[in-house]
Amino acid sequence: MERMEPVEFGDAPTPGGDADRPVLVTGGTGTLGRRVVRRLLEEERAVRVLSRRPRPAGDREPYDWATGDLSTGEGIDAAVAGVGTIVHCATTVGRGDVAATRRLVDAARRSGGEPHLVYISIVGIDRVPFVYYRAKSAAERIVEGAGLPWSVLRATQFHDLIAGIVDAQRMLPVALAFGGVCFQPVDAGEVADRLAALAVGGPAGRVPDMGGPQVRDHRELTRTTLRARGRRRPVLPLRLPGAVFRAFREGGHLAPDRAVGRVTYDEYLAARTPTGG
Ligand SMILES: NC(=O)c1ccc[n+]([C@@H]2O[C@H](COP(=O)([O-])OP(=O)(O)OC[C@H]3O[C@@H](n4cnc5c(N)ncnc54)[C@H](OP(=O)(O)O)[C@@H]3O)[C@@H](O)[C@H]2O)c1
Repeated sequence: MERMEPVEFGDAPTPGGDADRPVLVTGGTGTLGRRVVRRLLEEERAVRVLSRRPRPAGDREPYDWATGDLSTGEGIDAAVAGVGTIVHCATTVGRGDVAATRRLVDAARRSGGEPHLVYISIVGIDRVPFVYYRAKSAAERIVEGAGLPWSVLRATQFHDLIAGIVDAQRMLPVALAFGGVCFQPVDAGEVADRLAALAVGGPAGRVPDMGGPQVRDHRELTRTTLRARGRRRPVLPLRLPGAVFRAFREGGHLAPDRAVGRVTYDEYLAARTPTGG
């Protein structure tokens, strides 16, 4: 695959943002969100993390902590109070993100502070009829129609997800991979860079998609992961019927013309596996 010229991650279109008010990061404890929090702190922005859990004892990081639940609405008005930007990285299973996003947006509107909504979405959600992707599409529409300033970035699957699928099968004598499906994994840290730039830079609307540097067959990615982990087992292709997997096989979730991520999957594995790649 030919590699595109990488984009600058700090190239948000309208400089500005709201430097005096904190940035709320929902899902600030998750794979992506905790990296966004780190980037924003490096930019010396005031950050508030939303989590369902209380702040861990001994956490001395220089952010505020809001305990709240987007599935019930508990604590959400307090979490959004006074913020200038909300980076929405929290996600629930299935279709839960629709109601969760609506609760967040309603609270943001009630706050009266007109915060900038920055939402992370997924490449191809309108091409692959997966129930989670349908929820992401609906959540995008809620963000875009909220009457608040907004930015939406779609990314391909994170390296962590590809590795996680393999690691979740560690007790099995074989490893299953989606037959005929390719992925274009991207580094969550690079996506976090882009989101943090959008949060600092002001509303940009729907920005260009962000894909990883390589499109690779899932069986081959699975073998690579097993090798890096020092595990030996056969990789069996799982060929699933139905429209969802047909769309995945057709590459509806890929963005080969937006292969702007720089960190390859092999580099990601090597950085996290003591035995290297
Ligand atoms: N993973 C990928 O490959 C990928 C690719 C493209 C886009 N995305 C998108 O990126 C976003 C982040 O994904 P991720 O992989 O970083 O997720 P993740 O690691 O699973 O983290 C999920 C986060 O959501 C929070 N959360 C869950 N339920 C919540 C609730 N009811 N109320 C408040 N917070 C709640 C969790 O916080 P607590 O547990 O602390 O409450 C956690 O911080 C998602 O929107 C996802 O669709 C992911």
